[in-house]
Amino acid sequence: MNEALDRITIVTGDITRPRKDQQWAVDAIVNAANESLRGGGGVDGAIHRAAGPRLLAHNAKLGGCRTGLAKITPAFDLEARGIHHIIHTVGPIWHADDDEIDAKLGDVREDVLLASCYTRSLELAAEHDCQCVAFPAISTGVYGFPKQRAAQIAVSHVLGFLATHDRPQRVVFCCFDEADAGIYCEVIETRDQWMLNRKRLG
Ligand code: APR
Repeated sequence: MNEALDRITIVTGDITRPRKDQQWAVDAIVNAANESLRGGGGVDGAIHRAAGPRLLAHNAKLGGCRTGLAKITPAFDLEARGIHHIIHTVGPIWHADDDEIDAKLGDVREDVLLASCYTRSLELAAEHDCQCVAFPAISTGVYGFPKQRAAQIAVSHVLGFLATHDRPQRVVFCCFDEADAGIYCEVIETRDQWMLNRKRLG
């Protein structure tokens, strides 16, 4: 598991402008899309703006994407920034009420759908031989998923995937602000505690 941990990086910034780092370069980014795949606000809007109008034209022929699943497309204008693929995944809208937040991970339907977003996105990345994939904090903006709970699901599923796959070589959690990055750091530092009693997610 520790080897997998070495392949995770947390950064703060705009996912459409990956920071150049000596050791690695992001070649695929994940979009927190909606089921139409026709763009929106937040990270979806940023990626469509940066990729240009060819992305929308391409996605219009895909027939949408169900929540929890993922589809991969070219990066169009983002190629100029070294990005070759966009993986569009649709996270769940958080409907659970407050007392369900304390439910064990996996007991709430939204947990399972969010976990599926990470796993399906990583499967597509591996199938397309992506070396370094950047994820935004899926569902934690407009879709209202509690940030800390979402980070636990993201970290546990990415670690689980990397522990059994050579590709992608690296996963970057691209947080939009320092507060979100702090949540990911705290989740990683305390993962042993909650991963021990984590209910198996779907
Ligand atoms: N780079 C990285 N992260 C970003 C960026 C960006 N350019 N813009 C926003 N974020 C962060 C937000 O701060 C949040 O932490 O991405 C996370 C996900 O937020 P949203 O983009 O609102 O996505 P989500 O909550 O999954 O809601 C998806 O919103 O934009 C619409 O079409 C989209 O209907 C879909 C819904």
